[in-house]
Amino acid sequence: MSAATPPTGPLRHFLQLRDFSADEINYVIERARLIKDKFKRYQPHHTLHDRTLAMVFEKASTRTRVSFEAGTYQLGGSVINLTTAGSQLGRSEPIEDTARVISRMVDLVMIRTFEQTRIERFAAHSRVPIINGLTNEFHPCQILADILTFVEHRGSIQGKVVAWIGDANNMSYTWLQAAELLGFTLHVSGPQGYRLDPARTGTPAASVLREFADPREACAGADLVTTDVWTSMGFEDENEVRRRAFADWCVDAEMMSGANPDAIFMHCLPAHRGEEVMGEVIDGPQSVVWDEAENRLHVQKALMEFLLLGRLG
Ligand code: CP
Ligand code: NVA
Repeated sequence: MSAATPPTGPLRHFLQLRDFSADEINYVIERARLIKDKFKRYQPHHTLHDRTLAMVFEKASTRTRVSFEAGTYQLGGSVINLTTAGSQLGRSEPIEDTARVISRMVDLVMIRTFEQTRIERFAAHSRVPIINGLTNEFHPCQILADILTFVEHRGSIQGKVVAWIGDANNMSYTWLQAAELLGFTLHVSGPQGYRLDPARTGTPAASVLREFADPREACAGADLVTTDVWTSMGFEDENEVRRRAFADWCVDAEMMSGANPDAIFMHCLPAHRGEEVMGEVIDGPQSVVWDEAENRLHVQKALMEFLLLGRLG
């Protein structure tokens, strides 16, 4: 099948984690494990032969860029990379027109941008599946990789406790969707003014979300401790204010010692050692951050297959 051939079945997008059911997420995770196993054995897996992915980056990236680009080539497809500055998006071409044009030429589009409404507008005018490669509100590809990493290290995440230490950002809101979908408890702790917005979270059950003023209390009983930069992309003007506000929300060895003895540590990266995490943690024995980063590759290959081809095997 060549580029611009309509996919069989209804058009699906992955704009936020809850665009998929728990069953679909679990399928993608299991499929990623199979694809990873074949990759490690150097076995070809060319399910996206002759397909083209367009990537649109309106923010910087290392992992997302490399994992989608390498992953698509490894599946037998091709990739086009666009940035705001290098495309007409930087000269005010409407996102709707960009979507109409690009989606007539490729099979799949990954976008990293600012407001969630921007990717929604793109998707509303697209003929092909759209993948959220990070917005201000969500980072669902990262959470797929994090779930895969947890499953590999500790088995099913259902019934477990994940402690989020830090900002109410795209990662924490996506973790909350994961907790709701997959049946685990999210503990959250952040400084006042940087906590989850009830207007966005609604009122999840205590089995889904528990909030703590003290990050050490949030870590108690956790099977996974995770954090992220204090200032996300697009909010750089707030850097100095945030540095002061978040000073007590640094994941250090003492904080980790309050979690379960076999707790693991994750960080989506890039990390700032000495700010949100100490080197003793991110470079220590409980850290799985390099597996987590690698798993972006495998899980996104499974995601792209699923969006274009549905369930296989
Ligand atoms: N974790 C993540 O999305 O990394 P990049 O910003 O490097 O893509
Ligand atoms: N919350 C961070 C994640 C980077 C991958 C950001 O949006 O900058």
